[in-house]
Amino acid sequence: MNPSSRNAIIAGNWKMHYGPKQAAHFAHEIVPVLDQGVEHSPQIVTVLCPPAISLAAVREVLQAQPFPGIELGAQNMFFEEKGAFTGEISPTMVRELCRYVIVGHSERRTYFGENDDIVNKKAQAALQHGLCPIVCIGERLEQYEAGQTEEVIGFQVQQSLAHFPSDTVREVVVAYEPIWAIGTGKAATADGAGSVTSANISEFITHPDIDGALVGGASITHDFVEIVRKTAEAMQR
Ligand code: PGA
Repeated sequence: MNPSSRNAIIAGNWKMHYGPKQAAHFAHEIVPVLDQGVEHSPQIVTVLCPPAISLAAVREVLQAQPFPGIELGAQNMFFEEKGAFTGEISPTMVRELCRYVIVGHSERRTYFGENDDIVNKKAQAALQHGLCPIVCIGERLEQYEAGQTEEVIGFQVQQSLAHFPSDTVREVVVAYEPIWAIGTGKAATADGAGSVTSANISEFITHPDIDGALVGGASITHDFVEIVRKTAEAMQR
């Protein structure tokens, strides 16, 4: 990353961890320290993505005092605005609380049947409602082993961002996560990307093609604070 011209986004995907009480407790612990870590790095945005049911609780913590570099994100949403879609949340609902939304995470694609077309609709709906979509892409192990990484992720980017007016594409954040690396700590090199921890974030963030990280496992621990602090440090170099 060229520190002078680029911004970094570090998003913490809490996945299905921490209900409202635990989420508020954890946010109370980490938010003030996170804030100190990015105080002198206005080019870093930290996004906390708790489960939907805990968004309001974490938002309360974030609103207790100004934490300018720390934002809230949802882990998923439906693309329709309202209606008979039991269990879903709409872009309007998400926008009441959040500025960001993760769409097309590989776990959504694998366990909940989301495909590029659905991801595309969600990303478009996010932008239409003033949300910044974090669009996830990544190849499976067999595709990686067959040397198809570029082809697969190229196709996913094309399909997930199809029909986007060119002036809106730059508002989309693309998170590349090789599916075979998620949750494993495997292939933790900047060239291959992979699970992010405080031990490898500096290597990732100084890579010219990487402007941030979507952190899973480490985001529900205090290591997340260290990840953000090291990002700030790397950006100031
Ligand atoms: P990980 O997960 O950091 O635990 O590998 C990343 C993600 O799934 O967003």
